[in-house]
Amino acid sequence: MSAPDTLEREQEPADEHLTMGIDPWEKNWMLVSIVLLVVFAAAITVAGFAAGFQLPGEESEVDPRTVATEGPWAEPGLRELGEGRYEAYILAQAWSFAPRELVVPIGAEVDIYVTSPDLQHGFKITDTNVNMQIVPGQVSKLSFTFDEIGEFPYICTEYCGSAHAAMFGTVKVVSQADFDAAESGATDTSEATDTSEATAEAQG
Ligand code: CUA
Repeated sequence: MSAPDTLEREQEPADEHLTMGIDPWEKNWMLVSIVLLVVFAAAITVAGFAAGFQLPGEESEVDPRTVATEGPWAEPGLRELGEGRYEAYILAQAWSFAPRELVVPIGAEVDIYVTSPDLQHGFKITDTNVNMQIVPGQVSKLSFTFDEIGEFPYICTEYCGSAHAAMFGTVKVVSQADFDAAESGATDTSEATDTSEATAEAQG
């Protein structure tokens, strides 16, 4: 602030400087606060509609006593819904995530459903805007499109006990070719097992 401003400020404003009896400094601060409100409203609008920010909503309710053994979380992991669309079921429990690793092809749009059978946890995927509170008996859902190849660790963000820091997993975003190869590789392995079992039976 320059010296003349300070001097001017210390003087009582002359009557001709008052608007409706409001001190010019007070009027300026009122203008600043109105501008701030407009900026905040614009930021929320842009975040919500242009940048795709979502508030994690309460999607549905589940029975925390049976969620680990019945329904989609009994076999947690990734499922294909259609072309480029997937859903992932993740169980946050003391003190691990199931699954520990989620392999998705690049460009996959994934609906992520997380719940907990025991305590309150957090679910945050590093370097994404996926960050949810996980409450037992409630399903937290966010959608995310993975458009960058790499490893994105997910961590528990709510203190949940002695091994809280050990609660983590990884989203591996791979090329479509690698994803297809991994899937057919998994199929090959099971076929190989079947074959060896068949051979064992034939030999026995
Ligand atoms: Cu689960 Cu911290």
